Amino acid sequence: MSSSSSSSSSSSSSSSPSSLAVLLVLVTVISVTSAGNLYQEFDITWGDGRGKILDNGVLLTLSLDRFSGSGFQSKHQYLFGKIDMQLKLVPGNSAGTVTAYYLRSQGPSWDEIDFEFLGNLTGNPYIVHTNVYAQGKGDREQQFYLWFDPTADFHTYSVLWNPQRIVFYVDEVPIREFKNLERLGVPFPKSQPMRLYSSLWNADDWATRGGLVKTDWSQAPFTASYRNFHTDACVWLLGRSTCNSRSPVAHSWLSPEMGFANRQKLSWVRRRFMIYNYCVDAKRFPQGQPRECTVS
Ligand SMILES: *[C@@H]1O[C@H](CO)[C@@H](O)[C@H](O)[C@H]1NC(C)=O
Repeated sequence: MSSSSSSSSSSSSSSSPSSLAVLLVLVTVISVTSAGNLYQEFDITWGDGRGKILDNGVLLTLSLDRFSGSGFQSKHQYLFGKIDMQLKLVPGNSAGTVTAYYLRSQGPSWDEIDFEFLGNLTGNPYIVHTNVYAQGKGDREQQFYLWFDPTADFHTYSVLWNPQRIVFYVDEVPIREFKNLERLGVPFPKSQPMRLYSSLWNADDWATRGGLVKTDWSQAPFTASYRNFHTDACVWLLGRSTCNSRSPVAHSWLSPEMGFANRQKLSWVRRRFMIYNYCVDAKRFPQGQPRECTVS
């Protein structure tokens, strides 16, 4: 519902020859802007003025009322990287609203890495819903509660995506890992560049307590806020992937293993905060667990 803008980003619409000099100049420009101005990183793509970039490009807000939600997308496409952004979710009675924040490629056999934040009545917990699609097939939901109130402050939500794994992070705590298990015949997103999208919309037919709690329109407009977009990623440029890392440890996000401390954190989250895992949903998968669930 959110991908309606032109298919070519500002950087890839250049038809100049891809000489090394041109590439280097473009890469430099992207490196400089990668931690910066939201005007340079995103286009508001729908919502008729309900999405706004404010404070000279420091803050972005999306809003939802009974007539429409709103959404934005990144100007760049990425093929692998670590992508971070801070979000402050709809406060108060946000039941029925969904804030989606995801990476997605184009076409009928698309890849997608999803965060969706399902709102709730005041004082009741949001659900963080996650999913991974490869070649158009998803059905890999995991859901979590958070260990803080995501409406009181900004928190960092990140996706790490490299050829070996996808890791979802909340404030640098890994909450989910999806490994590349192509050796078991499980498709893995690794060749289609993805754009970052976010949208705020009404989903009161399913979002809160399975659709039992409806959106209270007397509370509208609902607003979610975004800031501090940061990428350490390979940008898809002129038909190829160009890595723009400027971190001290170049491309540390490419490192294939998660490390002991992060494994401990991941298992803490799974133990304490995971409320749904498709891997153990025998009703949905009566003929046995999906392949990727059979290895730890
Ligand atoms: C909303 O709160 C209820 C009651 O605490 C809880 O069961 C539910 O998981 C919460 N989240 C959503 C999105 O329904």
